[in-house]
Amino acid sequence: MSDKIVYLNGEYLPVEQARVSVLDRGFLFGDGIYEVIPVFGLNLLRLDEHLQRLQNSLSRISMNNPLDNAQWKAVFDSLLSKNPGNDRAIYLQITRGAHPVRDLKIQQNDVKPTIFIMVLMVNPIDVNELKKGIETVTIDDFRWHACDIKSISLVANVMLREQATQADVVDAILVRDGCVTEGTASNVFIVKDGVLITPPVSKHLLPGITRDLVLELAEENGINCEVRNVQEAELNTADEIWMTSSTREIAPVVMLNRKPVGNKEAGPLWKKMIDIYQDYKQQLRNA
Ligand code: PDD
Repeated sequence: MSDKIVYLNGEYLPVEQARVSVLDRGFLFGDGIYEVIPVFGLNLLRLDEHLQRLQNSLSRISMNNPLDNAQWKAVFDSLLSKNPGNDRAIYLQITRGAHPVRDLKIQQNDVKPTIFIMVLMVNPIDVNELKKGIETVTIDDFRWHACDIKSISLVANVMLREQATQADVVDAILVRDGCVTEGTASNVFIVKDGVLITPPVSKHLLPGITRDLVLELAEENGINCEVRNVQEAELNTADEIWMTSSTREIAPVVMLNRKPVGNKEAGPLWKKMIDIYQDYKQQLRNA
């Protein structure tokens, strides 16, 4: 028996007792959205921004937000107090709920959404480990034109990650029509001649909260940033490549398509940025 307590539709209960109908549209169609929110100490990282993205995802799939921001915060705080720890993350998923008939058509009235939340225990990022960097390959981004939705329909991402695994690397950098979009579960930055560059938000990538935070912290610290399309060819001449996400934070890419990136080690701008990011987290832990 684990002592993990989860939230399901208004109840707090041990994970083993949490049950969802097999007719849930999340199970049948992947009809739902999710969020992953890092927690440091008792504080949620960029909560307002995560809740705004949650709202955007819900609106995009024609679902109402079942709770307001204060209610979400109260549930998160309550669940965190039942799952004590240091560095953690909130995993939140909302599906369109169960209907007796399997039908793609959205039933407006009689379907209650399914709300599921769990706390993920996270090993604190070890900067010395992170610094070793990761190896990636580029892969054609065959996903749909709605990648800005944080959808639970992740089979395409699973397939792309499996392609990376088969290539014996940890992740892929996805390329659509000659331009970099993102990773299978992260955003992508390059550094060229001291300038930090990342693709603009669009229907072809998730607007990462870590991405926005990195851009904001970089600008505050006098690093030149450009938000513009990144051509696939620019990856080959980049001084540094980073992949960012809530769980991975800022990972330096040291090998791409079997060739070294820069000097095949985490670059000077990454070193500057990771210190800034760790300080930001520490302030949250102490707040
Ligand atoms: N994934 N792009 C995709 C496709 C992602 O799945 C994620 C995050 C990101 C980065 O977003 P953020 O900085 O807000 O974490 C970009 C989460 C961590 C996941 O699926 O577990």
